[in-house]
Amino acid sequence: MKKGEKIIGLVIVVLVIFAVSRALFVPQVQEEHAGEIPFYSTANADVQRQASDLYKGLKCRDCHRLWGINNITQFVPSPSLDGIGSIRSESWLYDYFSSKNPQEMLPTRLKKEYKMPSYAALSEEQRRLLAYYFSSLKVKDWYLNEVKRMEQEKLTGKKANES
Ligand code: HEC
Repeated sequence: MKKGEKIIGLVIVVLVIFAVSRALFVPQVQEEHAGEIPFYSTANADVQRQASDLYKGLKCRDCHRLWGINNITQFVPSPSLDGIGSIRSESWLYDYFSSKNPQEMLPTRLKKEYKMPSYAALSEEQRRLLAYYFSSLKVKDWYLNEVKRMEQEKLTGKKANES
């Protein structure tokens, strides 16, 4: 092997190790909450069922993840909707679903076929139901704190409580 080839080989090995170690980095949730689902809805069962039917019928699942479930044959890099109501209000969501051009509210760099479509053509009742339901999806506080702690540890390389 020539020297140049050895260097290239080494670089590839380093890149592979880096990629594998990143893939193996699974966030460790503290034991007291292990196995607990950190997402919940404040809507009643009836609303949840109606909204889920609409969500399935409109194929939102082709692009989004909800309750940890997505369509594994699709690989659209779109946001997970679990806990979305912890960051978006009902009125924001209503405007978003009613917008003829949702990218005006949430700019995107994705290709046309991956972008959030406009749902302005749905009936007002359906848009209200979606907005109400998605604003009811919350994240438990302990999980947000965990995510913050893990992010901080990743960025600083320190245990959050050591600093
Ligand atoms: C073609 C793929 C696709 C489909 C189908 C789709 N979305 Fe989206 N959605 C996206 C993408 C991508 C974004 C991020 C913004 C963007 O890139 O346009 C997004 C953003 C959102 C957001 C805002 C998330 C945030 O961070 O605030 C909500 C809420 C949402 N979608 C709900 C829905 C619902 C409900 C449906 C079905 C009625 C749906 N989406 C269907 C791709 C899709």
